[in-house]
Amino acid sequence: MKGHRGMRIDVLTIFPDLIRQALSCGIPGRAVDAGLVDVRAHDLRDHTDDLHRTVDDAPYGGGAGIVFKPEPIARALRGIALERPSGKVIFLTPEGKRLDQTMANRLSLEAHLVLLCGRYRGIDERIRERYVTHEISIGDYVLSGGEFAALVLIDAVVRLIPGAVGDAESALEDSFQNGLLDCPWYTRPPVFEGLSVPEVLLGGNHRLIAQWRREEAMKRTRERRPDLLEGQDVERER
Ligand code: ADE
Repeated sequence: MKGHRGMRIDVLTIFPDLIRQALSCGIPGRAVDAGLVDVRAHDLRDHTDDLHRTVDDAPYGGGAGIVFKPEPIARALRGIALERPSGKVIFLTPEGKRLDQTMANRLSLEAHLVLLCGRYRGIDERIRERYVTHEISIGDYVLSGGEFAALVLIDAVVRLIPGAVGDAESALEDSFQNGLLDCPWYTRPPVFEGLSVPEVLLGGNHRLIAQWRREEAMKRTRERRPDLLEGQDVERER
């Protein structure tokens, strides 16, 4: 486990079951079961004080849409801080810094993350001012709420925790970990609908196979994402 003591992630949302269900599957589910990460989904409605459990209201100054009220969010955050101080408080928003592999790597080293999911239009600005320490976007498009963005972030981060991915090396060999896209992969049968597996992969020469994979990764990156190669060491081509 390379000294990783387990990570805690708190998610503030009006759809806690969506978070829990999504994280019960696959690698995140296994990481939770193995105790590598402790994810807690908190229902913002549990922190309201009216009969209707109201979390939102009309924006001051008018206009379409609704805005999350500050009090339930502040109460939920204070509850978490009392129990576990000093977590990063991340608001998921298209106005945030764009998530990429470098950011996921950094976040995977944190002991505690608090993820705040709003509905689009947003949350009362004073929460951002007073409580939020980081704002993260998963891409230049608008989702109806932060939940799917939080799940994307959690998946990208949790799989980097040592022990989460079965083969210790495979998370490190992903697309983007070395600044390149991944090479093509094949499994049996050797011929499928008339398409053959490249000869070199069947030959068992590991040096040639490694070289072929590097070349294919480079070719694919050059064709699809030349922007990833800008400023990279040209020695990579060798
Ligand atoms: N909430 C709505 N859209 C989002 C996006 N693109 N990234 C993160 N959070 C969001």
